[in-house]
Amino acid sequence: MRALILVGGYGTRLRPLTLSRPKPLVEFANKPMLLHQIEALVQTNVSEVILAVSYRAREMEEELVHEAKKLGVKLIFSHEPEPLGTAGPLALAREYLSASDDPFFVLNSDIICDFPFKQLLDVHENHGKEGTIVVTKVEEPSKYGVVVYGEDGKIESFIEKPQEFISNKINAGMYIFNPSVLNRIELKPTSIEKEVFPSMAQDGELYAMELPGFWMDVGQPKDFLTGMSMYLASLRQKHPEQLYSGPGIVGNVLIDPTATIGKDCRIGPNVTIGPGAVLADGCCIKRSTILKAAVIKEHAWLDGCIVGWRSVVGRWVRMEGTTVLGEDVIVKDELYINGGQVLPHKSISTSVPEPQIIM
Ligand code: GDD
Ligand code: MG
Repeated sequence: MRALILVGGYGTRLRPLTLSRPKPLVEFANKPMLLHQIEALVQTNVSEVILAVSYRAREMEEELVHEAKKLGVKLIFSHEPEPLGTAGPLALAREYLSASDDPFFVLNSDIICDFPFKQLLDVHENHGKEGTIVVTKVEEPSKYGVVVYGEDGKIESFIEKPQEFISNKINAGMYIFNPSVLNRIELKPTSIEKEVFPSMAQDGELYAMELPGFWMDVGQPKDFLTGMSMYLASLRQKHPEQLYSGPGIVGNVLIDPTATIGKDCRIGPNVTIGPGAVLADGCCIKRSTILKAAVIKEHAWLDGCIVGWRSVVGRWVRMEGTTVLGEDVIVKDELYINGGQVLPHKSISTSVPEPQIIM
């Protein structure tokens, strides 16, 4: 089987991280977001993954070719000369997607869950119509595509980012389609949510499958951290051996084996620490992601933070409130940062008591 992953888009809501790396390559729980998806697809017998890229294609290619080889999956890069939205890329990849009569998967690249691809295929084959989309329940549906459907799963209407409340069931960003869907899409910038789903629903060709388990769009810092907590809780259920334990570790914590942890640290709950990261003695870290090769100095205290690659957090620093440090940021000793979004390569030498972007 085949799958197409939408890996274009500028990832502006995940700045400053996406100033250094395309969103699909930002590590979520110590693995590029995209790899979580590709691995799950491979487990469902997908042998060919088409990556619909519109910018920073080379970076993506360099990093993923190697991983794909390890997984034994064929990666095809479909380059868009201009961003084609969420449907246009399907038209661009028509040749691959219609190479057989088999249905194919389509995915947004910034979502995390227990990917239900096998079940999605079964549901799709069962109703026999053109498309099936995975839906989940959220508290704030206005940020998403809202789906209204009957008990049999048949979708009555699809409204992208509605202004008023219609339902709390939303598009989880995973689909399966028969190749005939390509007849609905032209090669031009097109939104699948606004221009394709509504008419498929009207034709009675679109069905919903409810997602069991957790789900999160991790394309914004706050949601990234919430998604990380959910993911770690699910890992606790399925693969507790992958979680770290030991003195000073509280709750669900994932630590790369190449990270260095000092004495008397208190880590967790809900923390991931990337390869080569260094935590000095006496650090306290909760609900945070520390990316590759970052350094947290003695007695720093972090809650609700993402620390970018190779950044250095000084001694006795206190950071909280969804603070995000871009790549290679330096926070000098003893500062307080609350909700700061710090652009790459900055050095901070005064406290930031209120949320702001620091450039
Ligand atoms: N190739 C390509 N080209 N990909 C694109 C483009 C483009 O021009 N624009 C966006 N994408 C990719 C993004 O990288 C992402 O993987 C996906 O398309 C969806 O774009 P987002 O920008 O993340 O959309 P969203 O989060 O506001 O809304 C979408 O996702 C929600 C679920 O997370 C919609 O599909 C909603 O209906 C859905 O509920
Ligand atoms: Mg998104």
